[in-house]
Amino acid sequence: MTKHKTEIILALDVEDHDQASSILDQVGDSLSWVKVGLQSYLRDGPKIIQQCVNRDKNVFLDLKLHDIPNTMAKAIESLSALPIQMLTLHCCSGSEALTRCAETARKVLPQTTLLGVTVLTSMNQSNLEAVGVSRSPQDQVSRLAKLAVESGIGGIVCSPLELIRLRSELPGHTKLVTPGIRPTGSDAGDQKRTMTPKDAQEAGADYLVIGRPILAAKEPMSAIRSIVEELEN
Ligand code: C5P
Repeated sequence: MTKHKTEIILALDVEDHDQASSILDQVGDSLSWVKVGLQSYLRDGPKIIQQCVNRDKNVFLDLKLHDIPNTMAKAIESLSALPIQMLTLHCCSGSEALTRCAETARKVLPQTTLLGVTVLTSMNQSNLEAVGVSRSPQDQVSRLAKLAVESGIGGIVCSPLELIRLRSELPGHTKLVTPGIRPTGSDAGDQKRTMTPKDAQEAGADYLVIGRPILAAKEPMSAIRSIVEELEN
C-alpha cells in the first residue's frame, strides 16, 4: 500500500470559548484544520468559526444535518455567510434530501465540500441491529456512501475500517474523512470502529479527525507531534 497524503483535523470539542482559545494557541501552525462540532457551535455560534479563521484555520463544521429535504436545504442557506470548507449531513436523510442539499450548497456555499456521514464510529454491529439494521457496518457504510455520492455529495465520513472498500467503490475524487482514530495506547472512549493514525493513512484516508487523544493529553502539542511523526515516517 502506498503512502497517502493525509491531513489531521483537530476536533475542537471544548467546554468554553477560553478553552478553545487556549488549545488554538497551543496548536499554533502545527495543524491547518479544525472541526467545530455541535458542542462548540451550539454554545458559541459563528463566533467560534471566526475565532478559528482568525488563526488561519480551515474550518470543518460538523452539524450532521438530518431532517426533511426542505428543512435541510434551508439550513444550508442559513449557513451561507460562513467561511467553512466542509459541512456534514447524514446520508440516511435519503437521496432527495442529499440531492437538494448538494444543489443548494453549490449555489450558496460554493467553496464548501458536503460530507455524508454514514454509520457513526461509535456504533458496532449490535448497535446497528438495535436500531433495525441487520446489515454489517461495512455493508451499511458502503450502501450509504454510494447513495450520497450518486446524489452529488463530495465526501464521506466513515470509520477507518471501511476506507479500503470505499476507495475501491467510489470515484477517486471523493474525499474520505475518518474519525475513530486512536493512537496506540490511547483510550477508545465511546468509539468502537477504530484504527491508529498510521493504519488509517495506509488504508487511504484523506483526513483524520482527532479529538480526545489530543485534547485530553497532558501536553496536546506533544500528542500532535507524535501523530505527525507517525504519519511522516
Ligand atoms: O474525541 P474523538 O477523537 O473521538 O472525536 C471524534 C470527533 O469526530 C467527534 O467530534 C465526533 O463528533 C466526530 N464524529 C465521529 N464519528 C462520526 C462522525 C463524526 O466520532 N461518524
